[in-house]
Amino acid sequence: MMNRREFLGGAATTGVAGVLAGMGHAATGPVTLTAKPVMVQLAPPDLPPTGIWGYDGQLPGPVIRARQGERVVRRFINALPQPSSVHWHGLRIENAMDGVAGLTQDAVPTGGEFDYDFTAADAGTFWFHAHNQSVEQVARGLYGALIVEEPDAPDADRDEVLILDDFLLDGETAQIDPDFTSAHDRSHAGRRGNFNVTNGRYDFSLPVKRHERLRLRLINAANARIFQLGLVGMTGWVMAHDGMPLATPEPIEGAFLLAPGQRVDLLADIIAEDGESAHLVRIDDGQGYSQAAFPVVGVAARNPRQAPDAFPPNPDMEITGLAEARRLRLAMEGGAMGGLKTAILNGERMTFRQLAEANQFWSFNGVVGLTDAPLASASRGETLRLEIVNDTAFPHAMHLHGIHFREVSASGSLGPMRDTVLLFAGETREIVFAASHPGKWLFHCHMLSHTASGMATWIEVT
Ligand code: C2O
Ligand code: CU
Repeated sequence: MMNRREFLGGAATTGVAGVLAGMGHAATGPVTLTAKPVMVQLAPPDLPPTGIWGYDGQLPGPVIRARQGERVVRRFINALPQPSSVHWHGLRIENAMDGVAGLTQDAVPTGGEFDYDFTAADAGTFWFHAHNQSVEQVARGLYGALIVEEPDAPDADRDEVLILDDFLLDGETAQIDPDFTSAHDRSHAGRRGNFNVTNGRYDFSLPVKRHERLRLRLINAANARIFQLGLVGMTGWVMAHDGMPLATPEPIEGAFLLAPGQRVDLLADIIAEDGESAHLVRIDDGQGYSQAAFPVVGVAARNPRQAPDAFPPNPDMEITGLAEARRLRLAMEGGAMGGLKTAILNGERMTFRQLAEANQFWSFNGVVGLTDAPLASASRGETLRLEIVNDTAFPHAMHLHGIHFREVSASGSLGPMRDTVLLFAGETREIVFAASHPGKWLFHCHMLSHTASGMATWIEVT
């Protein structure tokens, strides 16, 4: 039964309809999140609707908002023709809630349910997405934003989530290309789409006023596309990467990159004139395209604002014990035009040719795909330094679940907290992190065709 306080709380925030809906929940259990097939008008209206898979029948899924420190509870219901699970990307949560089918939980079968229940300790821009057969399920649309609000919202006139994606559509039927096992995609740069969208729209547009300050929460939900972005008609600052505030806002000059899985929080001030348009621009092969348009209708203030102060830091952003840290190395090999000769798949040494026949192309330290043995086993509280060597001909976006890391520069200084780092072909990067949360944490390339063909391992914290 709902008590008086909850009743009044509901009435205060959501009105009578909300109270009735809330009572419905009290009778039937927690708030649900249902993955199911649905038709949406993705392409222009002269093309038919597209069959996607969406959370609650939406593309993107519903925005889940929580206050920092609040509990998030969702009963996941799987109405897909495939087993699935939900990963809360970038959240430092209990391992059992991390949603990795085959590592932290069993995949939820068709018709099944799973209760996710965790506390959102960090404020920032996070997202959730399917984590079983991700190469297909995320590409079909199973993703949404998870926004954790600061106790005092940083000053901005609007707070907008922009989820960037590229669908691979048939030009006549507008249906999603169902070949998720393409050996070419897997062995090269991954599955890249031909139809770019923001929040599920090819023509995303949001009217604004001159001199308004927008907080833009950009999320790259694409399978493999590295978005190269820029601002036109706006001056902006990078405020946070992957949900973690920068100590000092970084003015945006020129283009910036957003790799699959990554997020960036911007503050952007509209400087385009009334009647013009500002744009978030996507740069493809040297050409600029509007990824999101901001037509200017009216003037909010006479003068531009002052440069912003940094967002408040999240808890436990300090990493100590760098000098004594245990050192690890991850050699990434394989793919087309790589030098991989042999690697271990399912306990057996195979030639690159045999691997290709199994549709597997990539190895981490000579091993293809997840095994029972972790890359490293750390005790809780230990600091680890991991050197990542990209000995392949392609870029990779390496994502560590459940733990944020910092990059160690050549001079030994530490970069911003991140959960996904982009490594270009031939690059070596070193990251450092505190093994703060016990459990099995997946570490994989967020180019999902690569995850599916070998680029996954895990780190154990005991
Ligand atoms: Cu966002 Cu293992 O993924
Ligand atoms: Cu990759």
